[in-house]
Amino acid sequence: MASTYIVPIICLSLAVVCVARPIYPLPSKVRNDCRQPVQTSRPYNIAHRGSNGEIPEETAAAYMRAIDEGTDFIETDILSSKDGVLICFHDVTLDDTTDIGNHKEFQNRKRTYEVQGVNTTGFFTVDFTLKELKRLRVKQRYSFRDQQYNGKFPIITFEEFISIALDAPRVVGIYPEIKNPVFINQHVKWPGGKQFEDRFVETLKKYGYKGSYLSKDWLKQPVFIQSFAPTSLVYVSNMTDMPKILLIDDVTVPTQDTNQSYWEITSDAYFDYIKDYVVGIGPWKDTVVPVVDNYLQTPTDLVSKAHAHDLQVHPYTFRNENRFLHFDFHQDPYQEFSYWINKIGVDGLFTDFTGSLHNFQEWTQSLSEEAQDDKNASKLLDKVAFLISSYKKQ
Ligand SMILES: *[C@@H]1O[C@H](CO)[C@@H](O)[C@H](O)[C@H]1NC(C)=O
Ligand SMILES: *[C@@H]1O[C@H](CO)[C@@H](O)[C@H](O)[C@H]1NC(C)=O
Ligand SMILES: *[C@@H]1O[C@H](CO)[C@@H](O)[C@H](O)[C@H]1NC(C)=O
Ligand SMILES: *[C@@H]1O[C@H](CO)[C@@H](O)[C@H](O)[C@H]1NC(C)=O
Repeated sequence: MASTYIVPIICLSLAVVCVARPIYPLPSKVRNDCRQPVQTSRPYNIAHRGSNGEIPEETAAAYMRAIDEGTDFIETDILSSKDGVLICFHDVTLDDTTDIGNHKEFQNRKRTYEVQGVNTTGFFTVDFTLKELKRLRVKQRYSFRDQQYNGKFPIITFEEFISIALDAPRVVGIYPEIKNPVFINQHVKWPGGKQFEDRFVETLKKYGYKGSYLSKDWLKQPVFIQSFAPTSLVYVSNMTDMPKILLIDDVTVPTQDTNQSYWEITSDAYFDYIKDYVVGIGPWKDTVVPVVDNYLQTPTDLVSKAHAHDLQVHPYTFRNENRFLHFDFHQDPYQEFSYWINKIGVDGLFTDFTGSLHNFQEWTQSLSEEAQDDKNASKLLDKVAFLISSYKKQ
């Protein structure tokens, strides 16, 4: 008699794993099609260098915290080691965010190179092998943020970063940047004449990333490829249709590869050209809403112009600290989120504080589809329970 219950009970537990949200098996055992998908109905929460407001940037701990806090995408900057291994690191030099200064054995590695037209002195990632880089520990960039994790976490590779996303208990997208490609290609050579961008795309493909924006493949493993260098984006578009985002710097900064002005790359003619290669732009916030004396000015037409060309807009960077909040927001980061989401109408936000953005969005724009899914799930469970009870009666 007892054995007749086994089959329906197994079905029930499978249904719970696949449909209800809170119960997760161990990450490595989760199958893609069972995991909660990335939301696509509200602006993307993009964890800028992980939850780096709390934990040193671009470390595994910062990315895992961001995933816990509900991010849609974990964002990273890809550079290279001397031996051609792609790593997650923001600056071309190690000075500001690692303990390189404490490593006597490396003190003779200081160099001066020209980076985007500026002679820069420091310890460059491209002068260290991966094995050497792994001996360093990362530290918090800003003195006014929590220092307790300094010296605890190593630099991670692009592949380790991807594994963190793929092992997450729900579908979490990745948002890697082809960082300083002109500089990296000058200093690092790969076998067979391959360049930085080739390695970058090969790595994504190796782990199964593929497909255009919102395609079935993309939804399984969402990714945005970002770069400030239009040449790199055009180049990689020959290798993959994964969605790409053109980053746009302040109005005074020309592009690092094509030396084009801000005005040139935000013109209607340029948007007409670049929209064949990218799905959106990632502008510095102040180019969307200029700031004078810490007060917001009238927004520019950048967002409406981009939207008119069917381009998304993901501005950077949202930071909770008062020193980054304009007076208009009265020291309240939620007011800033509200302004950019509801008034400016952006499609994604790069933030150092993913948890805050997630809470704000849950409170103001809870995922209705998800609620609907949950209702359907409980309906399904009702059906299963009904089947079990009718089975019992027989
Ligand atoms: C950088 O330094 C080198 C060597 O001193 C010099 O030739 C070059 O003009 C400098 N470049 C810039 C952009 O200042
Ligand atoms: C892309 O591939 C086409 C066809 O192979 C080639 O003609 C074109 O130059 C390539 N474009 C870039 C930017 O590499
Ligand atoms: C970039 O463009 C500016 C303005 O047209 C020009 O003055 C400068 O020399 C250019 N730089 C390079 C490296 O071509
Ligand atoms: C949930 O059920 C509603 C109404 O029965 C239906 O319209 C909707 O498409 C379902 N959603 C999913 C994700 O199955």
